[in-house]
Amino acid sequence: MSKNFDVVVIGGGPGGYIAAIRAAQLGFNTACIDEWKNEKGGPAPGGTCTNVGCIPSKALLQSSEHYEHANHGFAEHGIEVKGLGLNLEKMLGRKNTVVKQNNDGILYLFKKNKVSFFHGRGSFAKGDANGYEIKVAGAAEETIIAKHVIVATGSNARALPGAEFDEKLILSNTGALAISEVPKKLGVIGAGVIGLEMGSVWRRLGAEVTVLEALPTFLGAVDEQIAKEAQKLLTKQGLAVNLGVKIGTIKAGKNSVSVEYTDAKGEAHTGEFDKLIVSIGRTPNTIGLNAEGVGLKLDERGFIAVDGDCKTNLPNVWAVGDVVRGPMLAHKAEEEGVAVAERIAGQHGHVNFNTIPWVIYTSPEIAWVGKTEQQLKADGVQYKAGTFPFLANGRARALGDTSGMVKFLADAKTDEILGVHIVGPMASELISEAVVAMEFRASSEDIARICHAHPSLSEATKEAALAVDKRALNF
Ligand code: FAD
Ligand code: NAI
Repeated sequence: MSKNFDVVVIGGGPGGYIAAIRAAQLGFNTACIDEWKNEKGGPAPGGTCTNVGCIPSKALLQSSEHYEHANHGFAEHGIEVKGLGLNLEKMLGRKNTVVKQNNDGILYLFKKNKVSFFHGRGSFAKGDANGYEIKVAGAAEETIIAKHVIVATGSNARALPGAEFDEKLILSNTGALAISEVPKKLGVIGAGVIGLEMGSVWRRLGAEVTVLEALPTFLGAVDEQIAKEAQKLLTKQGLAVNLGVKIGTIKAGKNSVSVEYTDAKGEAHTGEFDKLIVSIGRTPNTIGLNAEGVGLKLDERGFIAVDGDCKTNLPNVWAVGDVVRGPMLAHKAEEEGVAVAERIAGQHGHVNFNTIPWVIYTSPEIAWVGKTEQQLKADGVQYKAGTFPFLANGRARALGDTSGMVKFLADAKTDEILGVHIVGPMASELISEAVVAMEFRASSEDIARICHAHPSLSEATKEAALAVDKRALNF
């Protein structure tokens, strides 16, 4: 028996489930299809983000940071810890509980918003502007009819040729979040977001971590001054980051992996690791969608081709999130999902790509929005810069976390904020003020004149804004 819907969303990650909820809020009869299974074979909506991405990685980052503090940080506060132990099974169990709470939360939200949920794989059977037949292959097979389809099928980890993921020795993000015993030696290929976050988790828990990065610069997309500071701080913690390496043969043995590589000077090395995480980017996922069967166009890199409004080449078929161009971030996927639902309703959904924040949840955290100094130089934009170190911030001193800085970049003539870059404590939270300011096209003087609570880390933001005009008060 077929069921008719106004909107069918394929994929229940942050792009898909949020699109479905917004579509339902707007009065559409909406369905969401997601195939992710929990360990019991039941539904686990939330996609990569909830199951093997944002949420479990942040749970482990938090747990491992507590462990690191108990190990090395508490003594300074006069707290003496004796007999400290690590129960990794419990730590991983807590992470799994946090994931499940999020899966259940999404199922609850579907119910609350009257979104029909289908557990299984969705694929295009046939269709045109009058409607699409979508086959759902789950416990049973059924066909549903959609006036509008939103594809939000996400992405998968990219493997290195000749080193497929076995999730036992050669790990993608999935395996990296579930190592059952702290490896003595952990290799990480790729010093990007996953490499640094997961490398930090396992280093804090006791692994000797070696990161091998192809590019000669550390975090090339990050503002250079911030990236240099972050590199210094992370290296000091013991994360060994090797830049400019060329990876050769990778061989998985019985209990270890060997990686041949040449370093930046061209010298050959072989690394022997108990586990190897490969985090060299992600590829769009259109497996099993039958895109070709209905003529849904992909671009040359395998992403679903969309215009600025997330419209595909097929009438009434839209695509959002990791499966389309743009940064692979959960909040970008969500914004696109909301905008598409609103466009279907005839509203003017909008995503401002200039104000999408980035956060790397290392310690200290790295966060930014807008242009970097190197981008402004390349674009020939005249700008003023202001920085303020957390060392001069009273709250940071009280916290015992004074590493890093806030940096403002503003237009030389108009003073409009063009970029804000932070490496330091709670950068993930502090960046929101900069995002709001840039959305309202504020000047650095606007932030400098706003009252910020004392003592708070946000005063470093205000002071960096003051520093643009060379009038920081506490530095
Ligand atoms: P996904 O979350 O990948 O969801 C796609 C869903 O569609 C999946 O459930 C999949 O099973 C399902 N699906 C696919 N094909 C079909 C089909 N044919 N039928 C039915 N279902 C299908 N981003 C951040 O912003 N902040 C972070 O802190 C962060 N941390 C991350 C940490 C890690 C380790 C990783 C790997 C990623 C992280 N990301 C983070 C990125 C974030 O997870 C992605 O950008 C986000 O999940 C993309 O959302 P999406 O909805 O496009 O796709
Ligand atoms: P990434 O793109 O962040 O980093 C990949 C790194 O691997 C790059 O530095 C690249 O130069 C390097 N690399 C590529 N090929 C290589 C090779 N052959 N040898 C050595 N190095 C190589 O990708 P990553 O870390 O896999 O994460 C994927 C995406 O997931 C991120 O880009 C981000 O969009 C998202 N993510 C977001 C997080 C957040 O917002 N906090 C956390 C984790 C992931």
